[in-house]
Amino acid sequence: MSTVPQEARAAQTGRPMDRADARAKVTGAARYAAEYAPPGTVHAVLVGAEIACGEVTGVDAREALRSDGVLAVLSHLNLPPLAAEPHLLPSLAGASASGQSFFPMRDARVHYAGQPVAMVVADTLERAGHAASLLRIGYRGEPHTTTLEEGRERAYEPDRIFAGFLPGRMGRGDVEAGLAEADVVVDAVHRMSANHHNPIETAAATAYWEDGRLTVHDSTQGPTATRLTVAELLGVPPSQVRVVATAVGGSFGAKAMIWAHPTLAAMAARHVRAPVKLTVTREQMFTACGHREEQEQRITLGARRDGTLTAIRHHKLSPTSPFDDWAEPSLEMPARMYACPNHEGVYRLFRANTMTPAFMRAPGEASGMFALETAMDELASELGVDPLDLRLRNHCDTDPTTGLPWSSKGLRECYEHGAQMFGWRGRDPVPGTRTDGHWLVGTGMASAVYPVYQAMNPQRARVRLHADGRAVAETACAEFGTGVGAVMRQVAAAALGIDAEQVEARYGDTDLPTTVAAVGSAGSGAISSAVHTAATALREQMVERAVADPDSPLHGADPARVEVAGGRMFLRDGGGESYTDLLRRHMMFDAEALGSWDPPGPDAGFAAATFGAQFAEVGVDPDLGLVRVRRMLGVFAPGRVLNAKTARSQLMGGMLWGLGHALLEATRMDPDSGRWANASMGEYLLPVNADAPEVRVEFAEVEDRMVNPLGVKGVGEVGVVGAAAAIANAVHHATGRRFRNLPITVEAVLGGR
Ligand code: MOS
Repeated sequence: MSTVPQEARAAQTGRPMDRADARAKVTGAARYAAEYAPPGTVHAVLVGAEIACGEVTGVDAREALRSDGVLAVLSHLNLPPLAAEPHLLPSLAGASASGQSFFPMRDARVHYAGQPVAMVVADTLERAGHAASLLRIGYRGEPHTTTLEEGRERAYEPDRIFAGFLPGRMGRGDVEAGLAEADVVVDAVHRMSANHHNPIETAAATAYWEDGRLTVHDSTQGPTATRLTVAELLGVPPSQVRVVATAVGGSFGAKAMIWAHPTLAAMAARHVRAPVKLTVTREQMFTACGHREEQEQRITLGARRDGTLTAIRHHKLSPTSPFDDWAEPSLEMPARMYACPNHEGVYRLFRANTMTPAFMRAPGEASGMFALETAMDELASELGVDPLDLRLRNHCDTDPTTGLPWSSKGLRECYEHGAQMFGWRGRDPVPGTRTDGHWLVGTGMASAVYPVYQAMNPQRARVRLHADGRAVAETACAEFGTGVGAVMRQVAAAALGIDAEQVEARYGDTDLPTTVAAVGSAGSGAISSAVHTAATALREQMVERAVADPDSPLHGADPARVEVAGGRMFLRDGGGESYTDLLRRHMMFDAEALGSWDPPGPDAGFAAATFGAQFAEVGVDPDLGLVRVRRMLGVFAPGRVLNAKTARSQLMGGMLWGLGHALLEATRMDPDSGRWANASMGEYLLPVNADAPEVRVEFAEVEDRMVNPLGVKGVGEVGVVGAAAAIANAVHHATGRRFRNLPITVEAVLGGR
């Protein structure tokens, strides 16, 4: 592979660039899944179970079917059978990716409140909704379990969690011996509320059949995953299913896995022989796309007097659905964070009447690192050691779970730059002593880490160069607000030596080259690798054509010495020509290349993660119980930064998500009804602008030569990790009180609980 001149690359990648979809989204030109209406489109609405456990005893649809415009009422009594069993798999697997192994309306059983028990199809949305209100559904209720308090006694230790990808128990060394060696032990129990994603665009699918081929406009992070899942469940060859997800209005994991609604829309479309649009309502979003499970984490740290960790014991208890062993992986990254020889991680689950939980931004890392990093702060207090020095003392140069070297790390630089920019050094460790008017003021810090997940299948992209000088980069991947579209433009431009403004990104369509779902902070790494491979192949194709052409100024040149910039191929010490001149002379309207990049497998011989350091300052109003975050600083080492603007935005959004995790976000279960009590945007609290402090994002540059061709480790989720812990640690520093439960509510600060 010939080299791209560094200056050309630097000019196109790294620089800040607007999101490819920005203008379309803010002007309303972007078309979302529910905004497609092929001729004859009709509307489906879902009806959710009113009980949390039991059976549907009857669906009386007579009145609904007599209602104007109604085309069908589907329920377990008449829903066509599935061609395959849904099985829970994460969408990085490059296979079908059902969010749970349960599919609704196949029998009368009710497993959770809100579970779809009927679907009404009518000519308009209003008529479908009205008819749904006329359904008479009978239930026989049974006792249900929905909360930690109810399920604790029935907990079991699962063999595997996380769709079978991770073991239920992990360990190294001897934790009992490690604790016996310790001079100081911190033992803390943390409780964290359930959380829901709440993307602005709710889930929706518009599906239609033409000559046995199915098209689905789906709001998804993974068009390919939707294609494979719907095809499998309906028994249709995947080649006959096209999924389009051009504009996606946020997701955060809610649309990472494929839930029932695209398949139900396709089933309804086949049933009524018309295009069907199915929109999940905001309230239904709380029982349609999974959630972060309520959880309890008990963490025990043992350390010597000098701060060296001797043992980490980390246990998690959480509810899962009646059908899947799911827990978000809270224990994995805390196990890999510090050089501690003795570690034990154990997941315990109990069956509850909820749907299967799912990925939610920094799934597992956010909650697990909250427990570890607040416990580290407690340990620092106990030892009288600065919290940052405690972390440096336990810094690990290799992955402590495997002994493998990190592909790159940069954490020391993050700590160092962060401490300097934040003004950490010289901090008075005594809690509860600084004031600003009636506010108590404190500061806290925490480590951040997020693994580099690799896709399991080859990642493909196509790049086409037109004779007019413009280029198009194409992949199937979804752009749900992460900035991957801009990255596609920049990476293609860098490899071709043209301006990124001259490159159009096309994405979100299974007719384009196959890529993995945009999940696990892996999107930019996978997509940039595929586009880079394709654009490099195209450049080489053009150079080969030029050096072989007697009419080219480059005729006979060594291809390895040909450089590209400004749309031209040239020799540093001689002549050259533009792509346009070459293509026109050869009577080519365009030239294109397909690139395929194979991600390194699990035996690649290195460990990979993005690291960072979080700092926060809070003010606490002891009379009103208010916690206000006054400033946040995050310093991260994500490898190469492809787009300074979108990377910063991703990390800033993550840090604000961490603020929400710390202080606001909670889905409250009503144990009597077994329903989420605040299933609305009005009652599920999220940070708004008035809650947002000054958030500063900085990068520590590290070169990574192992993870992928451009050394991109990902920024989508690491910004969340450690942010809640930094805030909670700052609250302790301000008040002298430890808050181990999330969110830290006004009531808690006032002393209620
Ligand atoms: Mo992310 S929570 O893997 O969509």
